[in-house]
Amino acid sequence: MSDYILEARNISKTYRTSEVAVEALKDCSVGFVKGEFTAVVGKSGSGKSTLLHILGTLDTPDRGELFLSGESILNLPDKELSRIRRRKIGFVYQDYSLFPEYTAYENIILPIRLDSGKENAEDVDKIMADLGITHCRDKFPGEMSGGEQQRTAIARALAIHPDVILADEPTGNLDAENSLEVIRLLSEASRIYDQTIIMVTHDREASEYADRILKISDGVVSE
Ligand SMILES: Nc1ncnc2c1ncn2[C@@H]1O[C@H](COP(=O)(O)OP(=O)(O)OP(=O)(O)O)[C@@H](O)[C@H]1O
Ligand SMILES: [Mg+2]
Repeated sequence: MSDYILEARNISKTYRTSEVAVEALKDCSVGFVKGEFTAVVGKSGSGKSTLLHILGTLDTPDRGELFLSGESILNLPDKELSRIRRRKIGFVYQDYSLFPEYTAYENIILPIRLDSGKENAEDVDKIMADLGITHCRDKFPGEMSGGEQQRTAIARALAIHPDVILADEPTGNLDAENSLEVIRLLSEASRIYDQTIIMVTHDREASEYADRILKISDGVVSE
């Protein structure tokens, strides 16, 4: 048994169109331990999003295995896999993906409610305070800055206390100052909540906040 909370073993993925086949990932093996904040860096088209999608079971590899808390999960039935996606994996997107007709608080608790659960209001309030968005509690996304919206999206991912949070260029739409703040908060959240976070970023300074930097070049992962 490994100590990895999430592990990919010998993952390969080729995208085929009528004209070409692109080997997006080539025999990638990588593991992540609990509480670790990893930055994934690499040129455009190197395979970063592909890796993240496969780690999040949003895409399936052609070859290889994926283990969550030591359990091989790729061959699980769809229903089981979507349950894992709801409960054990948090996603943060570049465009925030908040529902405009819900307040920040409502957006944060939505995944818990959709999973037929009841949120712990104290816990949600603490997460909002830790991310500095208490003042946004009853605001709608349209009434919040980009940075506040992204912090709300991060709070939403943290609130389910998933095994892992996957963030694909979470600062891609933010200015330099807000980017740094969001990355600093992700790093702090990872520490406070012992939360495993894997973040794709183009931000050079992001690397300074990460516990670990993973490089991808032409579909090959290296430390
Ligand atoms: N659905 C798809 N169909 C065909 N090719 C794809 C598809 N998705 C990705 N690719 C190709 O696979 C390779 C890796 O793409 P990926 O999106 O993982 O790159 P990336 O590192 O995230 O790039 P970026 O920094 O621009 O987001 C690229 O060559 C891309 O063109
Ligand atoms: Mg990408």
